[in-house]
Amino acid sequence: MSRDSQSDPDLHRSRRQRLLNVLGPGVLLLPTAREAARNGDVHHEYRPGSDFHYVTGFPEPQSVLVAWRIDSQSHHAILFVRERDPERETWDGPRYGVRGVTKAFGVDEGRAIGDLWRDLAELAPLDGRLFHTLGHDSDFDQKLMMAFARSRARQRRTLLPSHPIFEDPAPALAGQRLVKDAVELSAMRRAAELTGQGHIAAMRATRPGMYEYESQAHLESAFRCGGSPRNGYPSIVASGPNACVLHYHDNDRRMRAGDLLLIDAGAEFLGCTADVTRTFPVSGRFTPAQAAVYRVVLRAQAAGIRACKAGAPWDSAHKACHRSLTGGLVGLGVLKGNVAKLVKAAAFKPWYMHGTSHWLGRDVHDVGGYQSLDGVADPMLVGSVLTVEPGLYFTKRDTRVPKELRGIGVRIEDDILVTKRGPEVLTAGAPKSIAEIERLMKRQ
Ligand code: GLY
Ligand code: MN
Repeated sequence: MSRDSQSDPDLHRSRRQRLLNVLGPGVLLLPTAREAARNGDVHHEYRPGSDFHYVTGFPEPQSVLVAWRIDSQSHHAILFVRERDPERETWDGPRYGVRGVTKAFGVDEGRAIGDLWRDLAELAPLDGRLFHTLGHDSDFDQKLMMAFARSRARQRRTLLPSHPIFEDPAPALAGQRLVKDAVELSAMRRAAELTGQGHIAAMRATRPGMYEYESQAHLESAFRCGGSPRNGYPSIVASGPNACVLHYHDNDRRMRAGDLLLIDAGAEFLGCTADVTRTFPVSGRFTPAQAAVYRVVLRAQAAGIRACKAGAPWDSAHKACHRSLTGGLVGLGVLKGNVAKLVKAAAFKPWYMHGTSHWLGRDVHDVGGYQSLDGVADPMLVGSVLTVEPGLYFTKRDTRVPKELRGIGVRIEDDILVTKRGPEVLTAGAPKSIAEIERLMKRQ
């Protein structure tokens, strides 16, 4: 069966129950991700929708969950899925079908996806609440509205609205997914571990003269061979000047002695991803200028990680990194003046233009809010995971910085679990001190 098949009926039932308890009376309508065409007869690799998979464990495309709460301990869940089809299964592999899903995934009913629109109009009364996020899939939304319009036309009751009250379940889902449960945490730990192994493999294999995609092959081979079916996002393998392109994806430059190589990559494991960046010298030893920049970023990252404390505003790491990087930029001769005033003026911005942290989980930029409606930063919660990823980027043509720094881009990123006892670095297996990296890369 599919790599995304997670048959754990009790787990998914309890996640659904928690969600429905927060949502209250009404019907939840949650489709999985759509398949995407790539080119003639070929689709992009399929990955189920993160929210859908979180509450069902069901791997197949063209599936929709419809569920409602009965009381605080029970609910009714129906999975609308593709029917068995021996001819299609010869091409695409076996399907669970409407009977298979009840046993394997612990839902109360399986029904044919072709009956969704007809059945939904009966399951979700026009004068009730429907929990569905509009705007993700206009085709789905249009079919949804037409189903209710048909139902309204059939019923001919003057006081009946033409559709239920729509409520967005996304905030409730995000709140629940932000704090990882034990199963997710163990998946996050394994994703982090495999990601560390991949970075080590890339460090060991990289040599001047290799192409970036060759280092990528070593990195991702370690992910796959360790049991990660896919990356959490496309790997960024950026050597020399490419390290200054934040989301570089070409990965096709030939690396030279004296280059740094920045790799930002994460293995996915049981639906959860890591997100780690390491920057190391292609020939195994940092030049003095590279080492100077690297130390500034590493120090800033340590300050950022220390700031990841339960209850602190989520952007505490960002602020700590700003202070530390600014002091570092003064030390490197890039900025001059009073550090506090430079921080206030965001003088670091030309060389540090991105945020320091994002939530991490099933999505690399995971669900979870960052601030309240009136703009107050949300607190870090015990059990949430966020990245700390400061960097400095000095492009080749940047005449504002000393010559020896031009062309150097460094980012260092780890994944931090917020615990009662302080920050826990899940990705500590990936070496990051200069001494550790140089030792690992020492040529035989
Ligand atoms: N790892 C890519 C990013 O955080 O944007
Ligand atoms: Mn990141």
